[in-house]
Formats: sequence, C-alpha cells, structure tokens
Amino acid sequence: MVYFVGAGPGDMELITVKGMKVLQNADVVIYTGSLVSGNILAYCKEGVQVYNSAEMDLPEVIEAIQQGVDQGKSVVRLHTGDPSIYGAIREQMDELGKRGIEFEIIPGVSSFVAAASRVKAEFTLPGVSQTIIITRKEGRTGSSEGGKLSELAKHRASMAIFLSVQSIGQVVEELLTGYDEDTPVAVVYKATWPEEKIIRGTLKDIAEKVAEEKIDRHAQILVGDFMGSEYELSKLYDASFSHMYRRGKE
Ligand SMILES: C[S@@+](CC[C@H](N)C(=O)[O-])C[C@H]1O[C@@H](n2cnc3c(N)ncnc32)[C@H](O)[C@@H]1O
Repeated sequence: MVYFVGAGPGDMELITVKGMKVLQNADVVIYTGSLVSGNILAYCKEGVQVYNSAEMDLPEVIEAIQQGVDQGKSVVRLHTGDPSIYGAIREQMDELGKRGIEFEIIPGVSSFVAAASRVKAEFTLPGVSQTIIITRKEGRTGSSEGGKLSELAKHRASMAIFLSVQSIGQVVEELLTGYDEDTPVAVVYKATWPEEKIIRGTLKDIAEKVAEEKIDRHAQILVGDFMGSEYELSKLYDASFSHMYRRGKE
C-alpha cells in the first residue's frame, strides 16, 4: 500500500496520530528533505529504506514507489504540511493511477495554520474578515487567471502567502493596490521549528524588517486586519443568542 502523508509544519508532534502510525509501520519512506524535519524519521522502524525526494525527479520518485509496491512493502510518501497545498501530489497520484497502484492520503497540519497558531491569531473574525486567501506570488509557476496578488488584494481578506518571502518587496507593492499601508503583517520563518522567527510589522515596514533578518525562504507571510485590535464578538457565544444546543438568556 502507498500512503501520501502530511508531516505537519516541523514540530514532530504535529503529525496526525494516523500519519505517525503508518510511518511507524513503513518499509520505504520518500520524504521532502528540503522542508520535512529529519527528526520525524525517528518514528520509523529500524531498517526502513529512506529516500530524500529533494534530490529526485518525478520519474525517480515513481520508480522508488513502484519498486516498494512490487516487493509488497508499505510505502510512505511524506510531504511537508498538508500534501494538498503546493505538494505536487496530483502528478504522482495520476501516475500511480495509470499503473493501477492504490494509495491513500493522510492529511497534515499546513504551515499556514501553524503560523497562525504561533502568532496567536484567528483568520476569521466577525466584522473583519470571513474569508482566507491562500496564495503565492507567481514565480517559475505562473499565476492563474485572476490569481495575481494585486487582484486578490482587492478583497482585503485574511491572506496566507506561501513560497514568496524572497520577493517580499514586490509582494508588498502588489498588496498595496488593495490593502492600506498600516495593515498588519506577520512573517513566520520555520513555524514550530526550534529556529522559528516571527517578524511583525505593517505593509509599510515589513520588507525592511525581513531584509534585516535576512529571511529569504521557508516562511509564511500572513496579511490582514485579523491581526489588528478591532473585531466584533461572535454570535455563537453571545449570551442572548439561541441555537440548537443552547437557549439564549433574556
Ligand atoms: C512547497 S510549499 C509546501 C507547503 C506545505 N504543503 C504546507 O501545507 O504547509 C513550501 C512553502 O510552504 C511554507 N512553509 C512550509 N513549512 C513552513 C513552516 N514550518 N513555516 C513557515 N512556512 C512554511 C513556505 O512558504 C514554503 O516556502
């Protein structure tokens, strides 16, 4: 059997129980060495065969999976965060599908929610934003129709920007077409790793602060008034609000 497993953002205790169990049982593990903390391999049994996919291309990854399957082994393809977000799993799943190889996906804690936990924020605040945009600045992978940061900024939603901190100056420039310059920004480098860094600022000063800290990879850029001080209290816990499970007080 083949499992695509989300390893979580870094802290080895942030993998799911289900993910940990298949990792403990795995005979072959192919992990994204550039971002998955090697510590997580401590869950594996002795003698496990480990591949670092950072050094492999797609045909090599598929070949390693195929070999494991042919030998009746349990194969884990370990991805950082959650595999469904910038995980490049679709091309692997399609290839396995063509070969008739069955697989299961076990989700993980994505780095954007890990980053929110580290800055102690809630993305969805009443009266501020009920929408989260997960995106990246276009790089070698272009943006899709309507997906440019400057277009997305017009929604003034809570935003989590992946894979873009190396271009923080351009990111800020594009965001300023929609957000005000005093909009809060947090850059979270390696959220939940021992070397984690959190840089807080606004669209006005964040680029300078990030340059001072020399952060050019492995970071989340969180943007929006959800990190500000104003919001409305929720209806759900309002004492006068009745719902299926609770009668509101007069
Ligand atoms: C190829 S994407 C993989 C994202 C992953 N699937 C997820 O759900 O978090 C790599 C990017 O995710 C972000 N990232 C991954 N782990 C991170 C962490 N621990 N802290 C901050 N950002 C992280 C960075 O923007 C990095 O450039």
